[in-house]
Amino acid sequence: MVLDVDTGVDDACALLFAARHPGLRLVAVSCVGGNAPVDDVVRNTLVVLDAAGRGDVPVARGAARPLVERPRHARHVHGEDGMADLHWPPSPQLPDPRHGVELLRDVLLDAARTGDPDDLVTLVPLAPLTNIALLLRTYPEAAAGLRRIVFMGGAAAQGNATASAEFNVFHDPEAAAVVLDAADDLGVPVFMYGLDVFSAPTLSPAEAAEIVAAGRACGDRAAELAGLLIDFQCHRFGTDATIGDAGAVVSLVAPELLAWAEHPVRVELAGTWSRGRTIVDQRTASPDRDHDPHGLSPTVVRVALGIDGPAVARLWRHTVTGGADHDATGTDDRRPS
Ligand code: RIB
Ligand code: CA
Repeated sequence: MVLDVDTGVDDACALLFAARHPGLRLVAVSCVGGNAPVDDVVRNTLVVLDAAGRGDVPVARGAARPLVERPRHARHVHGEDGMADLHWPPSPQLPDPRHGVELLRDVLLDAARTGDPDDLVTLVPLAPLTNIALLLRTYPEAAAGLRRIVFMGGAAAQGNATASAEFNVFHDPEAAAVVLDAADDLGVPVFMYGLDVFSAPTLSPAEAAEIVAAGRACGDRAAELAGLLIDFQCHRFGTDATIGDAGAVVSLVAPELLAWAEHPVRVELAGTWSRGRTIVDQRTASPDRDHDPHGLSPTVVRVALGIDGPAVARLWRHTVTGGADHDATGTDDRRPS
């Protein structure tokens, strides 16, 4: 699998899970501006992978800003540095010298070349889709290496960045529209892990403290970091914290914990108050729908509309702590990889 991130507290939670779950093979990470400026994203991403002992995973700097919109960073959510203002020392690893889009291209073309279907890549964008739009339009041949795209973004119901739009899509609506159009063109299946499920897997301040203690007790910096990230979010919002983006990665190894439905999806680009909204068409066949002057979107997306939040949170916690607090979670994740 490959991640595209704007690390980001919850992107960091996703990176820790992807780095540690035995059923996942994280082969590369591309960075994009979003929650934080792209150089902060690169630094944060390298720190997280270093904590997880995954200095082997190439990390590349991608697009610094959206295709058309101006950047709108989310320091109010993720802290001044984009990752809970923990100020951990920088990783000794350097970023890959390629642009993020070129790293994605090379990884996908390598996957296509083997001819082995098991090598096809699940691409998991957890950020504005700028890199992915540039990739699919500039190097469409790279799609031959794609199994599917599972993106965190959008919503069938309400937004978060605005009443109508989810942050990643709102940050770069044109990129989201391009990705949906290109995926349809290139025959790439798209799965949408949106706000309809995003907030359900949560952990409490007490659980965050347990995870930090478990990590510190056995010198596991990844577990300590996971707990500190959740603790930051709990205290920033005065409530239990969602694992956010990490849920999209958990869904790769436990799809049965979510309810998926196929619906045509479009992105609103022109609306004054609805720009960046993902319009998930849940209408059943009817004369009204058949006479819709807009017709149906050609891009049919598998949309997550239900989730077992507690089970997803338990699996995340068990994985990022390396099972150190197995008793506390009671998680038996001897699931097939
Ligand atoms: O709307 C949630 C998304 O916006 C998450 O990816 C979070 O990291 C932010 O980028
Ligand atoms: Ca993100």
